[in-house]
Amino acid sequence: MPTIGAEAAAPFRPIETTRLILRRLEVTDSRAVEHLAGAVEVARMTANVPHPYPSGLAERWIRSTHGPLEAGTSAQLGIVLKAEGFLVGAIALVRDPPGTGAQIGYWLGVPWWGNGYMTEAVGAMLDHGRTALGLDHVSAQVFVGNPASARVLEKTGFEFVGETEQDFPLRGGRRRVKRFERRLTPAWSR
Ligand SMILES: CC(C)(COP(=O)(O)OP(=O)(O)OC[C@H]1O[C@@H](n2cnc3c(N)ncnc32)[C@H](O)[C@@H]1OP(=O)(O)O)[C@@H](O)C(=O)NCCC(=O)NCCS
Repeated sequence: MPTIGAEAAAPFRPIETTRLILRRLEVTDSRAVEHLAGAVEVARMTANVPHPYPSGLAERWIRSTHGPLEAGTSAQLGIVLKAEGFLVGAIALVRDPPGTGAQIGYWLGVPWWGNGYMTEAVGAMLDHGRTALGLDHVSAQVFVGNPASARVLEKTGFEFVGETEQDFPLRGGRRRVKRFERRLTPAWSR
C-alpha cells in the first residue's frame, strides 16, 4: 500500500478512459448530483442515496470526499463524458478499514444508461485501486432485482460470492443483496 503521506502531497490526477474522465467532485457539481442521483430510478437501487434528495446534501457529500481523496485512502469521483465535458455520474472506492480491501459503488444518470459507460468506469477504477490505492481486493453489493449492476460487475471480472439480507433504512427496511468480489492480484488483473 502506498504511504498516505506521499499521496497527500499531490493533487488528484483525473483518470482518463476512452470516453470518460473520472475526476475529483467539485461543489459546482452539486446541482447535477442532486438532479441525477436524486432520480427515483437511480436512488432506489442504491443503499445511501435518499429520495427525495434533500437540498444541500450534495454539497456536503462532495466536500466530504476531498479529504480521503487527497489522503489516498478512498476515491469518490465524478464521471464526466470526455466529449461533452459534463458530469453524468459518480463512482467510489471506499476502503474497508483497516486493510487492503474496498467497497465499490456507482450510479449513472438515467439518460446515459446502456452505453457501456459504467463498465468502462469500473474497469478504470479497478486499475486505480490496484496501482494508486494499493488494494488487493474490491467488494460490491447489489440489490436482488438490479440485473444491470450485476452485469457491470460480471463484465469487469467480479465473482458472485453469495446472497444475504440486510437493513437499508433509506430503502424502507430489509432487502436481499448479492455480494461480489474482485481480486486485484496480477492473475486477475485486466
Ligand atoms: C447500474 C448502472 C450503473 C449501469 O450503468 P450503465 O452504464 O448503463 O452500464 P453498462 O452499459 O456498462 O452495462 C449494463 C449491462 O447491463 C445490462 N442490462 C441492463 N438492464 C438489464 C436488465 N434489466 N436485465 C439484464 N441485463 C441488463 C446491459 O445490457 C449491459 O450488459 P451488456 O453490455 O452485456 O449488454 C446504471 O443503470 C445505474 O446507475 N443504475 C442505478 C444506480 C445503481 O444501480 N447503482 C449501482 C448500485 S449497486
